[in-house]
Amino acid sequence: MTDDLVIRPAIEDDAAGLFDLRERVAAEGVWIGSEAPLDPARERGLFRSLVDSEDKALFIALIGDDIVGGLGIAFGLPGVTEFGMQIDRAWRHRGIGSALMTEAIAWSTERGAHKLELQVWPHNGPAIGLYEKFGFVREGCLRRHYRRRSGELWDAVVMGLVLDTASPGSELNGPRYV
Ligand SMILES: CC(C)(COP(=O)(O)OP(=O)(O)OC[C@H]1O[C@@H](n2cnc3c(N)ncnc32)[C@H](O)[C@@H]1OP(=O)(O)O)[C@@H](O)C(=O)NCCC(=O)NCCS
Repeated sequence: MTDDLVIRPAIEDDAAGLFDLRERVAAEGVWIGSEAPLDPARERGLFRSLVDSEDKALFIALIGDDIVGGLGIAFGLPGVTEFGMQIDRAWRHRGIGSALMTEAIAWSTERGAHKLELQVWPHNGPAIGLYEKFGFVREGCLRRHYRRRSGELWDAVVMGLVLDTASPGSELNGPRYV
């Protein structure tokens, strides 16, 4: 872990730095859903919706003045938060993703979420490793679900972290099939 790491909610002034980070990670081509070049108007709308809303949040990781990581989170289904994250290539595997993940779990817990959910490319070993370290489990696979700009259809792994293990489950649950 880097000593001078700061994690905080994003503010308006962070928009350009976060766009640049997302553009760099998207340009790597294999990790996140968004593909480079990013659409500035769409990114702007996404940034605004995350920063301005009570039931969404955007956290950034800073080293000095540099934005080296970001995590956006929002409620999808009631009680279920969904998130996406990225760390600058030069700063990976130093605990910054874990610091953002800790923030996302705390944010979800404070708002009464019963579960966190995400989708990840099956080839993204580092991300799957991070999620499993925090207790997420693989819940299924979406086959040939996402059309990439190349025309390829990519699978996605669905992973979840249940926060509420006390409420009763459905009595109608059948045998597990995944
Ligand atoms: C996935 C990602 C967010 C992880 O962030 P990070 O800061 O590198 O993660 P951390 O340093 O906190 O590592 C936490 C755990 O993740 C796993 N991990 C991280 N990097 C890894 C690597 N290169 N290989 C294997 N496992 C890795 C390990 O389990 C690690 O625990 P460890 O330190 O005990 O080995 C980062 O690699 C990233 O931004 N990748 C590109 C964008 C992306 O894939 N986003 C997620 C899309 S679903």
